Amino acid sequence: MLQNPFFMLLLAAAVPAVLADGPPESMGTKFDGLDVLDSPNGLQNLTPSPYTISQWPWGTVPQLCYDESVNNNYCNPYDLEVYDVTYSDCPIPTTVCRCNNSPMTIDTIASRVGQLPVKARQWVGYISSYAADYCSAYSDSFHNYFFGDCGAHASVFFHELSHNLDRHNWKDTVTKGTCVADGYAKSSWLEAYAQVGVMAGYHANVQSIYTKNVSCMNDQVKKVISQLDGLFRKKAGQMCDRYWIKDTTVCMGPDAQASGACPEFRAAAGPAEVEGVGAVKAELPDEKQKKHDAVVAELRHHAEVAAGITPEKPAAARKHKGKKGSKFRA
Ligand SMILES: *[C@@H]1O[C@H](CO)[C@@H](O)[C@H](O)[C@H]1NC(C)=O
Repeated sequence: MLQNPFFMLLLAAAVPAVLADGPPESMGTKFDGLDVLDSPNGLQNLTPSPYTISQWPWGTVPQLCYDESVNNNYCNPYDLEVYDVTYSDCPIPTTVCRCNNSPMTIDTIASRVGQLPVKARQWVGYISSYAADYCSAYSDSFHNYFFGDCGAHASVFFHELSHNLDRHNWKDTVTKGTCVADGYAKSSWLEAYAQVGVMAGYHANVQSIYTKNVSCMNDQVKKVISQLDGLFRKKAGQMCDRYWIKDTTVCMGPDAQASGACPEFRAAAGPAEVEGVGAVKAELPDEKQKKHDAVVAELRHHAEVAAGITPEKPAAARKHKGKKGSKFRA
C-alpha cells in the first residue's frame, strides 16, 4: 500500500505561507529520502528497550488525545484505545492513544518508540496513532502524532522526536553547505533540522554518518551532532531523568458516562513522582504560544495531506511541485 504514494503527493503538495521559508531550491540533496537510513541494518534494526503494556479501561482518555481526535476528526473518542507503555529504562510510562482502526498495532508503536534512545525519548510526551493510507506524522514540539502505517519507518519516529529536540536558529549553518538531507528537508528550516536529526540518530546508534560522505552538508551534520549526540547515543544503564507532566483525563462522552466508565480522574499508571525524574510542564510562555500554534497547524495540515486524509489547501504556494524524492510528512 505504500507502493506509490508519490503521484498523489505531487498533486497534494502545497506549502502554506508560514512554512514557505526554507532552504533554497537550488541546494542539492544528499539522500533520496531518509528511508535509506532505516534498512538494511539501519535504524529499523535497533534493539528496542524492553517494555510492558497496560491498557486503560474503556471510558476515559487524556484531554490531549480527546481534543486532537475530536477537533480534527481523526477518531471517534469512543474508539480511542489508551495504553501506558513502561520501558525498562524509565519508571514513567509513555502514554499512547491509538484509534482502534490504526494500521499500527500497539506492539509496533511500542517497539518503534522503544528504539528511541531514552535520553531523547524522554522529550516526547503522548504518542498518537490514527488510520490513514500513507505513513506521515507531525510534532507539536512536545507530543508526536502518526498517521497510517509507519511501522517500517523508524526514521519517521527519529524525525518527529528531532522536532521536539530542535534548538532552532540554524539557517546560516544550512546555507554554508551546498546540500540538505533530501528533498523533504527543503520544505522548511524546521524540516531540514529534523532530517539531520535522523542522521544524528543514525550516527549515534548505527554507524558513523561520515561513512556516507556528507561533505556537502558538513556544517549541518556537525552542528546537529554536537547538539543531539549526547541524547541519541545509547549507553548501558541509562535511565530517563525528565518527563512531560501528564494531562488530565476526560470522559469519552455521554455513553461512557452513562455506563459508569468515567471515574473522576484517572492518572497515568506508574508512580506520580519519582526521585531523580523531573516533571516538566509541556507549555510555552504566552507570547510564544500563538505563533507556535500557527506553525503546528501548518505542520498538521502538511501531515494530513501526506497521509491522504485531507485534500491540499487551494491557493497555497506550490513550492514542491515536481520535486523528486519529496515526502510530505511533517
Ligand atoms: C563527497 O561528495 C562530494 C559531493 O558532495 C564530492 O565532490 C566528493 O568527491 C566526495 N568525496 C568522496 C571521498 O567520495
